[in-house]
Amino acid sequence: MGGVVVRAEPAGDFDYDAFAIDYASIRRPEPRFLAAIEAALGDARTLINVGAGAGSYEPDRLVVAPVEPSASMRAQRPVDRALAIDAAAEDLPFPDQSFDAALASFTVHQWRDLDRGLAELRRVARGPIVVLTFDPDELQRFWLTDYAPEVTAAESRRMPAMSTLVEGLGPSTTIEALAIPARCTDGIVEAYFGRPEAFLDERVRRAQSSWGFVEEQAQADAVERLRSALDDGSWDERHGHLRTAAEYDGSLRLVVSTER
Ligand SMILES: C[S@@+](CC[C@H](N)C(=O)[O-])C[C@H]1O[C@@H](n2cnc3c(N)ncnc32)[C@H](O)[C@@H]1O
Repeated sequence: MGGVVVRAEPAGDFDYDAFAIDYASIRRPEPRFLAAIEAALGDARTLINVGAGAGSYEPDRLVVAPVEPSASMRAQRPVDRALAIDAAAEDLPFPDQSFDAALASFTVHQWRDLDRGLAELRRVARGPIVVLTFDPDELQRFWLTDYAPEVTAAESRRMPAMSTLVEGLGPSTTIEALAIPARCTDGIVEAYFGRPEAFLDERVRRAQSSWGFVEEQAQADAVERLRSALDDGSWDERHGHLRTAAEYDGSLRLVVSTER
């Protein structure tokens, strides 16, 4: 089913169907983030997961309707997950108040019309809307900026400001910072805060869409700068304490709206 029909134009700012990305094995759901999402969903029993990708963060105890516009992402969903519907956040094919809750993890920055997408989440959800995303003001603090400034700049340019999300979701929206654990299983950029060698692996970089917004040559130069900082010990001099840190306070945020 998934993987057959490819859209003429991607529904987001990154074309997952044009690049062979091993998303499901590099971006495995992190149990700590899942626990935070489950807590925020409260006693919801039905959930719409928009920009559902390969099914990360869909709690097993819920009846989930995944919505995912990319055929290659739909094809990477494990067989025990619900089949995803081919639709975009901006135009959800469901009547008003169809679900107890809504989830959007690592996706709002890609939507073509964020306000419309958020309004659609509010329209179809009776209860909480849970958004897992990054605070763009914090992203460039990450040490990768020293070696790959174009990547963290691209990442932070794409992310909506926290104030924009609050405007879209309503004034009672809460924002919680989520610390990133040392062995984070979801290969977001900051997941490798203490494992810098990971960025030398092309599969890791390809599962982080921000690298795709940087010219090939600039990517290669960034990898070379990091490689030589690892070889000559300068990375460890500056950031080596992170290799043994239990967690990292980065830019990850859980944004929750309960208002109707
Ligand atoms: C980084 S992936 C995140 C997938 C999954 N939610 C996760 O946490 O792993 C972003 C997803 O958003 C989807 N997406 C992009 N634009 C979208 C839109 N306008 N509406 C819904 N989903 C969109 C992409 O196809 C992609 O699967």
